Amino acid sequence: MSSGMFRAATQGTRALRSAASAPTIRTMLSSTTSRNARAVLQRTLRPTLTASFHTTPLRFSSEAGSNPMKETPVITSENITVGGKTYLSDNFTNVTPTILEKTTRQLHLIPKHPIAIIKDLIASVFPGFQHYDTFSPVVTTKENFDDLCFSDDHPGRAVTDTYYLNEKVMLRTHTSAHQLKVMTESDKILVTADVYRRDEIDASHYPVFHQMEGAQLFDAKTAVDDIRKDIAQSTSAASGSIHTTDTTLITPENPKQDCHDEAAMLATADHLKHSLNMMVRKLFSHEKDLQVRWIDAQFPFTSPSWEMEILYQGKWLEVLGCGVIRQDILNNAGKPNKIGWAFGLGLERLALVLFGIPDIRLFWSKDERFLRQFEPGTIQKFKPFSKYPACIKDISFWSNDQFHENNFCEIVRDIAGDIAEDVQLIDEFTHPKTKKRSMCYRINYRSMDRNVTNDEINVLQEKLREEVVNRMKVELR
Ligand code: DAH
Repeated sequence: MSSGMFRAATQGTRALRSAASAPTIRTMLSSTTSRNARAVLQRTLRPTLTASFHTTPLRFSSEAGSNPMKETPVITSENITVGGKTYLSDNFTNVTPTILEKTTRQLHLIPKHPIAIIKDLIASVFPGFQHYDTFSPVVTTKENFDDLCFSDDHPGRAVTDTYYLNEKVMLRTHTSAHQLKVMTESDKILVTADVYRRDEIDASHYPVFHQMEGAQLFDAKTAVDDIRKDIAQSTSAASGSIHTTDTTLITPENPKQDCHDEAAMLATADHLKHSLNMMVRKLFSHEKDLQVRWIDAQFPFTSPSWEMEILYQGKWLEVLGCGVIRQDILNNAGKPNKIGWAFGLGLERLALVLFGIPDIRLFWSKDERFLRQFEPGTIQKFKPFSKYPACIKDISFWSNDQFHENNFCEIVRDIAGDIAEDVQLIDEFTHPKTKKRSMCYRINYRSMDRNVTNDEINVLQEKLREEVVNRMKVELR
């Protein structure tokens, strides 16, 4: 549906870049189909879904024990209970039962799960870092956006892109949401967590994925010397060759912060890039000559900012976003005399590549044939179990101004769950007389672990037709 370029640029960290960043917007527009360009332009802060489907209480098997995230989420017409806490709903509420069920899974805490294996491998490259991996995914909009210097009109805040429990409470869209809190506690931090974004449906997109965040702070006064010593020590311990291309420049578009001493900032940037080069060297230890490139980027919470890409099987793969932490954040964390770096990376992205996993839904499979293939501490190639046949259905309708593809995908997910493999816009036109816009979506239904029958899919498709009319007020054709 969207071009490879756009995919490549968004799956890794699925970056919440700076809204003010002209280059980013240009890149998005030039490298995407008109559908994506429209999605960028159409983002709106107004809620677009009605809450009528939030009335059914939810029940899942509960293994609560001492972990509140394992408690069964419950949605009623008035409130939402998740992680043992209850939140009032309002007209921002757009979390669904399907999404809330995912909060109980915590794949990064299952030792032999590929996500946890990658997490542990990365953590092993950052000894002495305090690692937080049990934070609840429910955060405030202050933590997820305001504390990180996101502008009030940043597109990431839109209800079409983010899951809200209510106007002030949401499912985190990135692990950066915990930066401020953990920086008050430590100078060397890792955070691993599940993050949630409303998105399209295909083999490499899923509304929940996992991120790992890292940060390190230095005394601003002694940073240059401290960093020089630290790099000298760790370089001698590194193995394998790595070829880096770094064409990044400190420019007015990607500036040093005024409050920073230039030498301290450059040393921090060196330490950041050095640490991350070492990290990918470890992850890709099977690649003889690892090619890494650094490019300029923009994030609201770092300046300057960069992205790292690695050449993998002939393609540049975006691995992470990073930068020098905005001093406001450090000041708010009670650390005005520190300077520091931070990074955030998408774990699925790396796990798909390193384990050779063909479909992102497999991470969520409860099928033993998936999990029993992996061992903590080792990366071994996934052996596909049989691929079951797909069942393809189309739906056509006259659209309206409120239509947003993410809302449509949400309905598909609610009805079909993980059986929905792919949703593609296959036809679109505007009627010359009535000016009405017609859209036709193709839904590819396939189960990862069994055959689906045409009859069963017809029932789902019929339900989809009804719900699309009810919730999106479109007119079926
Ligand atoms: N939070 C960003 C995202 O989800 C990733 C990121 C970029 C994290 C830069 C950072 C950072 O800590 O410094 O796209």
